[in-house]
Amino acid sequence: MTTYWHPFSDMRTVDQTGEFKIVKGKGSWVWDDQGNKYLDAGASLWYVNVGHGRKAIGKAMAKQASQMASFTNFSDVTVPITNELAEIVAGLAPVPDSKVFFTSGGSDSVDTAMKMVRKYWQLLNKPSKHTIIVRDRGYHGMHNGGTSLAGIPDNRAGYGALDEDVVKVPWDDHEALIKVLDEVGEDKIAALYCEPIMGAGGMLIAPDMYLDTVRKACIERDILFVADEVITGFGRTGDWFASTRFDLKPDIMLTAKGLTSGYAPMGAVIAAPKVWNVFAAEGVGVWRHGYTYSGHATCAAAAIANLKIMKDEQLPKRVRNMEGMFAEAFRSLNDLPSVATVRTGIGFLAGIEMVEPGANFPMMWTLRKHGIVTRPIVGNALQVSPALTTSEGEIHEMVKRFRAALS
Ligand SMILES: Cc1ncc(COP(=O)(O)O)c(C=O)c1O
Repeated sequence: MTTYWHPFSDMRTVDQTGEFKIVKGKGSWVWDDQGNKYLDAGASLWYVNVGHGRKAIGKAMAKQASQMASFTNFSDVTVPITNELAEIVAGLAPVPDSKVFFTSGGSDSVDTAMKMVRKYWQLLNKPSKHTIIVRDRGYHGMHNGGTSLAGIPDNRAGYGALDEDVVKVPWDDHEALIKVLDEVGEDKIAALYCEPIMGAGGMLIAPDMYLDTVRKACIERDILFVADEVITGFGRTGDWFASTRFDLKPDIMLTAKGLTSGYAPMGAVIAAPKVWNVFAAEGVGVWRHGYTYSGHATCAAAAIANLKIMKDEQLPKRVRNMEGMFAEAFRSLNDLPSVATVRTGIGFLAGIEMVEPGANFPMMWTLRKHGIVTRPIVGNALQVSPALTTSEGEIHEMVKRFRAALS
């Protein structure tokens, strides 16, 4: 058996089927070690927004790594490239004058914000505001905090008591959510965690007005709104963020993946002035939270080069212009007897739900035979979230291959 213990894997199956070795990528395509070529329908794990093989990002990283790869950023120390990135990210953020707290990925961002929201209320002398509200089918990473927030039961099961001060609501029902907010009470609730579009939970788009109504409900009750944009951030929904597209103005926004397009592991928690001002108030002192690699200089170089590509090529706008074509192309699969429904319509995102229970797992292997790499997601679905650079022709080719496999 391979020594490499794969994440999210059944190692026994990996042993039986062997590892699938990816050795090269270019744009929306990847190659395995046998020379076979595949369309990367998932942009790896929802993150290669600018496509594979971007030399400019590699060069920027090499330059930074050979000059000052990283240095602790605790306290007053910084490597200036990290400040540069913070300015760029804050300039894109949905709320002006935001501050950017860097992490090493999405789960770090999720857990950082859990501490941030609770500490925020402590500092405001409202320590009873501690409960976190989450939605069924939500995915907020795999650290201890994020596992406590899991809306996918299988992701939460098997770890005993974690953080128990978490209340779950249905993913799509704003009235049920508001009822829970009022039952639990605003004096107890610290924050609502909300993925504007749910990815791992099955590519779920909430009904019209859901986000707007829920956002307003939080404002009215003084509950912090945390937008988990680890998937939806950086162009995926046809805007820089789902929060800018849907005018959510989150108190805190969680990002990772598209920040570097996965060329380096990095995330960012973007805090609106309402939040960071409280931490910066006189007498508060040190917030004893941070990671060794918060603001890692070589990762920052990757992010800057990545965001430059996104800006130069206007990728968020490109996706917005193409999303109608994208949705129509994937919806055409609805006529297949094996397909229950195709969830799509916003950005470069689709979830193809299958009819036969559990069919999405073996379909992953069938798709590979047809030159498509993607993965099963919750809700008996298949993930579609290609690079934001994918051409119209490649999208049609992708749909053609899905059709062949699903037939
Ligand atoms: C919405 C959301 N939040 C958090 C995470 C966790 O990110 P990471 O896997 O980088 O820790 C993910 C990962 O897919 C995610 O989809």
